[in-house]
Amino acid sequence: MAIGVFDSGVGGLTVHRRLVDRFPQADFIYLADQANAPYGPREGEHIVNLTRAGCERLFAEGCSLVVLACNTASGIALRRLQQTWLPSYRREIGRPVNVLGIIVPTIEAATGMPWEHEAERRGDKVEKLDVLAVFSTAATARSRVYEIEIDKRRQDVAVFSEPCPELAQMIEHGAGAVELATKVEEHVAAVTRRIGRAPHRAILGCTHYEIIADMFRAALKPGTPLIHQPEATADGLAAYLEKHPEYDPGSSSQRRFLTTGRPGAQNTLVETFWGAPLSFEQA
Ligand code: DGL
Repeated sequence: MAIGVFDSGVGGLTVHRRLVDRFPQADFIYLADQANAPYGPREGEHIVNLTRAGCERLFAEGCSLVVLACNTASGIALRRLQQTWLPSYRREIGRPVNVLGIIVPTIEAATGMPWEHEAERRGDKVEKLDVLAVFSTAATARSRVYEIEIDKRRQDVAVFSEPCPELAQMIEHGAGAVELATKVEEHVAAVTRRIGRAPHRAILGCTHYEIIADMFRAALKPGTPLIHQPEATADGLAAYLEKHPEYDPGSSSQRRFLTTGRPGAQNTLVETFWGAPLSFEQA
């Protein structure tokens, strides 16, 4: 058995890398749905169908668990798949399988609260002392998943989502550093204007952005803490596997990289981030 890691493209490699560091013996299969990327501009139903197809593919390859290393897929599709598809699919294939997302561990890291925690609703107005900017795809921003889930747990946090519609695709196509840094600066300036001050903290709420985290760091007020999804997701998976020994992560350190798009090497930006040659097989 193996752990599947799914993203619309190369962004989930940021998560994959942290998971591999944390579970070096486990077997991992990464699937990039590059034929259908970007997910950000797509409509909800389509994202649900594409995410289900990706999970099915990874389960067919022998995964017991799939980590959706994609905010857009996690925010839009995960709950639907857990409620309407997974129970019957499990019966059909006759073994335990599950799909985990990236939003839950990120919310836990951002709020310092376990997912199960719900803040007591206070009648009086709670002062918002902690201003959090979330940079994401348009679909994630539209879903308001970060605003809703953080507010349930911490009413003192004000969340401002900044949709960055072109950024994931620019990274996917290996745009140049100047072009990327300019785009990041524009988005940081836009959210800062909307808030009326610099955010206290920020979430890079699209896995692709972690590849250019340094550009966000440079554009934000110096010292602004970033909540890192790869780290949070690795913590979440460790806790999950501890509680659920029925999901076998494998033990032969197998690493496979599949794409629905063009197989072979990825662009220079991704190769530089990865730090070693990386070749994808056709899914
Ligand atoms: N990397 C994905 C995310 O975390 C989505 C990028 C896209 O396909 O638009 O949201």
